Amino acid sequence: MLAAFSLLLLAPVALGVLTPPRPLPPTLPRLSRALSEPLVHRPTGDPLPSIDTLYTFDQLIDHTNPSLGTFKQRYWMDWEFYKPGGPIVVNTPGEENAENYIGYLTNDSIVGQIAQQENGASIVFEHRFFGLSNPYSNLTDASLKYFTIQQAIDDLVNFAQTVKLPMPGGDVVQSGKAPWILVGGSYSGALTAFTMSNAPGVFYAGYASSAVVQSIVDFWAYFEPIRQLMPANCSADVEAAITYIDGVANSKNATAINALQSSFGLGNLTHIDDFASALRSQLWNWQSLTPDSGGAVFYDFCDALEVKNNKSVPASGWGEASAVEAWGKYWKDTAYSQICGDGNADCNEMGFFQDSAPLGKPSLVSRLVVPSGDERKCQAMFPGAFSTPRDPMSNATNAAFGGWNMKVDRLFFANGKRDPWRFATMSSDLASIKSTTMMPIAESNGFHCTDMISAYGDIDPTVDAVQKAGLANMKTWLASWKPSTPKVDHARRGGRFARRNAL
Ligand SMILES: *[C@@H]1O[C@H](CO)[C@@H](O)[C@H](O)[C@H]1NC(C)=O
Ligand SMILES: *[C@@H]1O[C@H](CO)[C@@H](O)[C@H](O)[C@H]1NC(C)=O
Ligand SMILES: *[C@@H]1O[C@H](CO)[C@@H](O)[C@H](O)[C@H]1NC(C)=O
Ligand SMILES: *[C@@H]1O[C@H](CO)[C@@H](O)[C@H](O)[C@H]1NC(C)=O
Ligand SMILES: *[C@@H]1O[C@H](CO)[C@@H](O)[C@H](O)[C@H]1NC(C)=O
Ligand SMILES: *[C@@H]1O[C@H](CO)[C@@H](O)[C@H](O)[C@H]1NC(C)=O
Ligand SMILES: *[C@@H]1O[C@H](CO)[C@@H](O)[C@H](O)[C@H]1NC(C)=O
Repeated sequence: MLAAFSLLLLAPVALGVLTPPRPLPPTLPRLSRALSEPLVHRPTGDPLPSIDTLYTFDQLIDHTNPSLGTFKQRYWMDWEFYKPGGPIVVNTPGEENAENYIGYLTNDSIVGQIAQQENGASIVFEHRFFGLSNPYSNLTDASLKYFTIQQAIDDLVNFAQTVKLPMPGGDVVQSGKAPWILVGGSYSGALTAFTMSNAPGVFYAGYASSAVVQSIVDFWAYFEPIRQLMPANCSADVEAAITYIDGVANSKNATAINALQSSFGLGNLTHIDDFASALRSQLWNWQSLTPDSGGAVFYDFCDALEVKNNKSVPASGWGEASAVEAWGKYWKDTAYSQICGDGNADCNEMGFFQDSAPLGKPSLVSRLVVPSGDERKCQAMFPGAFSTPRDPMSNATNAAFGGWNMKVDRLFFANGKRDPWRFATMSSDLASIKSTTMMPIAESNGFHCTDMISAYGDIDPTVDAVQKAGLANMKTWLASWKPSTPKVDHARRGGRFARRNAL
């Protein structure tokens, strides 16, 4: 969960700490209308504020100790289709400035589509410690202890139970008086599932896209969907190059190591582990693929390895020598300038270190890249928080929020076969979880959170089918919603897990 701090503290970073893509949903590729466009309330024709109008909620800094006071948590909302009795559909983008996701309010995303279909209002809610929703203006180790999954869950719960929304009648639609629906993708998809499992009943239904529900320290399997679905010749050659590079590294021959690194333009990296680590950046580009991304950067890399004189080779690839040479040239000519340092590490609660495959399995990543290396980086980033390198508390997170074992009613999981995060989701090959009527698990041929974006349903019929299934479930489930008196369980709120897990 500590991604935010590394972003704020580490930029710009040196090449040696090139860091992995974070579990975030994509921003909308295009918007059907400008965020600043004046709107009308469809049922009445009344004018509405534009959707970029900012609202804030006075949120508790610490749900275990309300005496610490409150901070301003930002949100945006759209009630153009709202009719009394309709649901409040909340989306938090997760660990990012939520301003970049205001478009999710509209029917350009699944969030707005649910609101439109059900005559509901949509809300984009900023996660604590991101954008301008900061409990404390300083980023000391002392403030880091309020940066936990449990506090983020309790933010959503407190908001749903007490907020007075700025729309007409918005003061009488708290959870229980109106149905609340939670939507998230990636980490925030997991947060959606965790919230519904940890605080049952506050959100009546949920939609979790590419939700990384199972925390995993050594997340080598991030590269499995990539290895299986990238061009076969390219994966064969990446594997061959990596085997060669590991051989040179293991030889401890400084001359050979230096010559190898120099052929990639990376002769100045002192530690070969950093060199080996940096080579993952070509594979990480897979996460930004979308159904309409076509010849994206990932494929340029494969072309650089595979296409010679306009000819590409069969599935077995060109072999080691050619692959190492072509990959080195690609770094020197192209990759170097594309690298930008984005510090991040899920050091504390989730893990997800994107490392080499276990011995005996094919690996696109050097065997030098192992969790202990990531844990050393975590410690270097947060010396006050980690006195020694240690495993993130993935097992405790899974025990607290359920991981693959969770059973949550009226929660729709949407996953993608080409999502590199797939092995941490409910569709993981490492688990075998059955889809049920009350907790359906649907899978498209999409990439990461592809189904959250309406337009991708027009391009890929499997994505369309998942979106339609999600919308149909919302319709069915909402039909049986009845008002209730919410139970505010203070013993649970910000309970023992949060304290034990605080830094
Ligand atoms: C969004 O709403 C507008 C207005 O009702 C409609 O024309 C459009 O088809 C909708 N788009 C989607 C993706 O549902
Ligand atoms: C910095 O954060 C700590 C809590 O982590 C808080 O007690 C202190 O008041 C903050 N200082 C400022 C200047 O905001
Ligand atoms: C070989 O690689 C090229 C370039 O990336 C790709 O277009 C082609 O489909 C691949 N062929 C096979 C058989 O893997
Ligand atoms: C070390 O590598 C260099 C360059 O590849 C080679 O010329 C040399 O013979 C190697 N040294 C040993 C001891 O293997
Ligand atoms: C390595 O050299 C390159 C190119 O000269 C330079 O841009 C880069 O900052 C250097 N990296 C380190 C870690 O010193
Ligand atoms: C490769 O193909 C392109 C277009 O088809 C052509 O312009 C180019 O000259 C070819 N290059 C070689 C080396 O054959
Ligand atoms: C976490 O659980 C896994 C599987 O039960 C176990 O192999 C591993 O040792 C545990 N890790 C820690 C740090 O306790």
